[in-house]
Amino acid sequence: MSTAKLIYDGKEYELDIVEGSEGERGVDTLKLRKDTGLITLDPGFGNTGSCKSAITFIDGEKGILRYRGYPIEEVATRARFTEVCYLLIYGERPDADQLAKFRRKLTLHTLLHEDMKKFYEGYPPGAHPMSIMAAMMASLSSFYPEDETDLDMNIIRILAKSKTLAAFAFKKSIGQPFIYPRNDLSWPANFLRMMYAVPAEEYEVPKVLEDALNTLLILHADHEQNCSTSTMRMVGSSDADLFASISSAVCALWGPRHGGANQAVIEMLEQIQASGGDCEKFLDKVKSGDPNHRLMGFGHRVYKNFDPRAKLLKTAADSIFDQLGIHDPLLDLAKKMEAIALKDEYFVKRKLYPNVDFYSGIIYRAMGIPTEMFTVMFTLGRLPGWIAHWREMRNDPEGYRIYRPRQIYTGEKERTFEDRGTKAL
Ligand code: ACO
Repeated sequence: MSTAKLIYDGKEYELDIVEGSEGERGVDTLKLRKDTGLITLDPGFGNTGSCKSAITFIDGEKGILRYRGYPIEEVATRARFTEVCYLLIYGERPDADQLAKFRRKLTLHTLLHEDMKKFYEGYPPGAHPMSIMAAMMASLSSFYPEDETDLDMNIIRILAKSKTLAAFAFKKSIGQPFIYPRNDLSWPANFLRMMYAVPAEEYEVPKVLEDALNTLLILHADHEQNCSTSTMRMVGSSDADLFASISSAVCALWGPRHGGANQAVIEMLEQIQASGGDCEKFLDKVKSGDPNHRLMGFGHRVYKNFDPRAKLLKTAADSIFDQLGIHDPLLDLAKKMEAIALKDEYFVKRKLYPNVDFYSGIIYRAMGIPTEMFTVMFTLGRLPGWIAHWREMRNDPEGYRIYRPRQIYTGEKERTFEDRGTKAL
């Protein structure tokens, strides 16, 4: 095993180098504190490996993304979402029999307990569907307590019921009655029907929408140790159950710097369009360094090259718009903005490229999904990734330790809390 040397206070220490299967290397700092009293300081965990993982590989410099070794470009065009769920969670592609059984189980567990419907009644009409999703995910725990001997059953339940939870959240927001799932439809088609059908009327899910959603779900399915997945692992490391851990990940995803960016991109484009469509003027504000004026859907902690998902979605957007026979000026505006930003020195110097959220919102819009539901759509796609990481952590004899980072304390030194008689007030 190779090592790195650290010289500190005149003494030399050897630290092991850990190497991954794609040649990625890390310094193992576990014994640093014991040997030297030092900790590592890395705000935002920009250069910290929190675990070893065999699920997803990203090379941000080259724009590579692979699920369990399979290039995203192949998975996105050759698989259906349910197969990708199985692959990510269990490590290998299912054979035909395993896939049929997995899909069958996912179909049979889509119903929500009728008592859960009452929870929806308590929300105000304008409630953000992500707040409903987070609460409902945690609530599932009360109905299906963890059974250590059958963790797979709750994995099925969460993958199956999440789309019902999401569609009910949408129906609640528009004041329409809930539409129940059907057992003869695929995962995406079942969800879209629960979103768009109304009682007593036939509704057939257009194939183009079903296929588009399939692609979107796959492209969002995992992305190694991102903010929500790390949250999932963090909460799960305390031994919290699957539903509680998922609920925390939903909250982490909601923020506009993470999954909430898909909603923020559309709001940004609408705002630019409403004020005359001047991209350069908007970019000038972005470049002034004002943190309230970022180009949403651009930049990534890991990708310093094209995000391969953004490339696929840009192509998918053209094809979906063609098939639906619609034209959205926001798509033109997004393309114009991308072209200008990619040539602009500010973005070139900082290696800022469009990320997955830049084009996803425009496609959701074309599919008739309201803006507030965009991050819920991301949630549905990311579920298999979160579950795969939670499961991997639980099954890892070395890595299943409670997440508990250290800090460098910068506050007051010890001082006396004088008695001012305030306790008696
Ligand atoms: N617009 C303008 N400037 C940007 C942007 C952006 N979108 N992103 C980064 N920068 C600039 C920063 O101001 C900084 O400049 P400086 O060196 O002059 O200070 C530099 O690029 C590096 O940016 P950081 O914020 O340090 O990068 P970090 O890795 O911490 O942040 C993040 C990554 C949060 C994604 C950031 O790029 C961002 O806020 N993007 C917009 C929001 C977004 O699209 N989020 C979705 C990400 S993908 C996902 O989560 C699914």
